[in-house]
Amino acid sequence: MDDFKGRLTKDGIRIHSQDDFAGMRSAGALAAEILDRIAPMVVPGATTGALDAQIEAWVNEAGATSATIGYRGYRHASCISVNHVVCHGIPGEKKLKDGDILNIDVTVIVDGWFGDTSRMYAAGTLSRKAERLVQVTHDALFKGIEAVKPGNTFGDIGAAIQSYVEGHRMSVVRDFCGHGLGQVFHAPPNVLHYGRPGTGPVLEEGMFFTIEPMVNLGRPETKVLSDDWTAVTRDKSLSAQFEHSIGVTSDGCEVFTPSPGNKFHPTWS
Ligand code: MF3
Ligand code: CO
Ligand code: CO
Repeated sequence: MDDFKGRLTKDGIRIHSQDDFAGMRSAGALAAEILDRIAPMVVPGATTGALDAQIEAWVNEAGATSATIGYRGYRHASCISVNHVVCHGIPGEKKLKDGDILNIDVTVIVDGWFGDTSRMYAAGTLSRKAERLVQVTHDALFKGIEAVKPGNTFGDIGAAIQSYVEGHRMSVVRDFCGHGLGQVFHAPPNVLHYGRPGTGPVLEEGMFFTIEPMVNLGRPETKVLSDDWTAVTRDKSLSAQFEHSIGVTSDGCEVFTPSPGNKFHPTWS
């Protein structure tokens, strides 16, 4: 009786049904497929605006809806965050240069379900220090995912990510976090990418949320530019981010946004 569809925990976290996993799987699959398809177009000389226009066209061709167009006044189908941009970079006319690293973040709505994923790309040749940052950020996301199972806490996820990142002498951004999602874009809880083991809400089967750590080579502080969206590192150091949407299962979790072509990481083709 207490696991009817739509139950909320005392922290306001929705517990979803088995059928709801299927909805998230379709939405996540489209978002991930779009991130696969854009990869060959991420080359020096391409503009982030052109990449976004292509993404928007694919969302529409699929009969889906962009979750970001119209969201709090945002006007694009993706966020594209280059080099020291931490997140929420606005696509535009600027051309990518050889050696740039960038995050592309896409959220689509399919049959009412939200699929939210982002990953890193490199335009041209990846420098050694950028490659290290990208690798640590990718692996930090998976340290977080490995901490997901019923009975663990959200603090366990944050602690796993933070200890991994800081062990590599990089820093975890505190100013942005992951989030519950499902039939809404942003729902409780805030999924922090730092924290203490055993703290925060207890994970339960049927919770859906993102993990999307942002990692800086320098200090963790960020600032938002006057466009009210673009978040950058205060010290102008390079920043990276990877994001999956996941659902808690009886013994772990299901990733809703795996790359169909196994291209989640820029050095995998
Ligand atoms: N997809 C982002 C996230 O991971 C949110 C982007 S909101 C936008 O939560 F308006 F900036 F697109
Ligand atoms: Co997200
Ligand atoms: Co996102």
